[in-house]
Amino acid sequence: MAEAKEAFERLLRKGELIESVAEMTPEYLRELKHTLTVSGDTELISAPAYYLAAQRAPSINAFMTGIAIIQDELAHAHIAYHILEELGEDQEHLIFSRDPKSFRYPYAFDVPLETWTELIVANLFYDQAGFCLLGDIHEQCSYGPWKRALNKVMLEENFHLRNGRTWARRMAQAGGETKAELQRAIDWMFPLTVEWFGLPDSIKTHSTQLDYRLKGKTNDQLRQWWLSTVVPYCEEIGVRVPAHRELVDGTETWVLDYPFPCTFDAEAKRWDFQNPCTWDDVLARWRARGPRNAEMVATFQEEFHTFRRVHPEAVA
Ligand SMILES: [Fe+2]
Ligand SMILES: [Fe+2]
Repeated sequence: MAEAKEAFERLLRKGELIESVAEMTPEYLRELKHTLTVSGDTELISAPAYYLAAQRAPSINAFMTGIAIIQDELAHAHIAYHILEELGEDQEHLIFSRDPKSFRYPYAFDVPLETWTELIVANLFYDQAGFCLLGDIHEQCSYGPWKRALNKVMLEENFHLRNGRTWARRMAQAGGETKAELQRAIDWMFPLTVEWFGLPDSIKTHSTQLDYRLKGKTNDQLRQWWLSTVVPYCEEIGVRVPAHRELVDGTETWVLDYPFPCTFDAEAKRWDFQNPCTWDDVLARWRARGPRNAEMVATFQEEFHTFRRVHPEAVA
């Protein structure tokens, strides 16, 4: 037992890849499963979240692009759940039989994307967040099968965020009400994505994921990376985002122009920048989940169980 642990730690220290359960310690397996579950759940839930808005696409071409992105996200989810199954979990249970509140995805997806414009801003902000988080895992990941599978995922995430960028530029250039609608979506979705990266490093307890090379950057480093991609792009196309760059302790840093964290009204999709809150308040909001949580999980769970009940012979 002690020998196996030593061999595992040697692999990890040397920067080599873990390839099978036999090479892992129980603690590493637990942390790997947790990281994969967050990834699978995030990819899976983005499908119903995007589908609500894709139905409002302004053309057949745009609709097909929306559907292609949704198809990609489902394939990404499948990669994570398939690996979890190889690690001893039951994929069917994970997807179809869990309580909606137990799904581990960012709170942002619980706030409905109701227009094509909001889907575009989701591609611009949420897929960029996914790109940063997965890009970090892709680079650092100590588990071989996942690291290799992420090659394909990264290429596709790139396509998603390109769709966001191309459309956002077009809408900003159109001006008038089109640009105003884009700005309104940005106003509530930007702070929601800033939150996506979690607690700041100053209050976050030690991350085992970093020790196990299941991620390489801290929450604040990932948030900075995301800000460094979206803020200059938004400025370039002429839309406002509440952040700027300044020297902090001699380092160029992206700084938010509003109190972080802050109070959010999910029903009204409105931030109250005059009303800062604590991280305990944010954690309570995340735990309670948002307006669309149960409804989105039902979109893929309900029919699964109904069909099996009505047609048991077809699924035996
Ligand atoms: Fe994805
Ligand atoms: Fe994506």
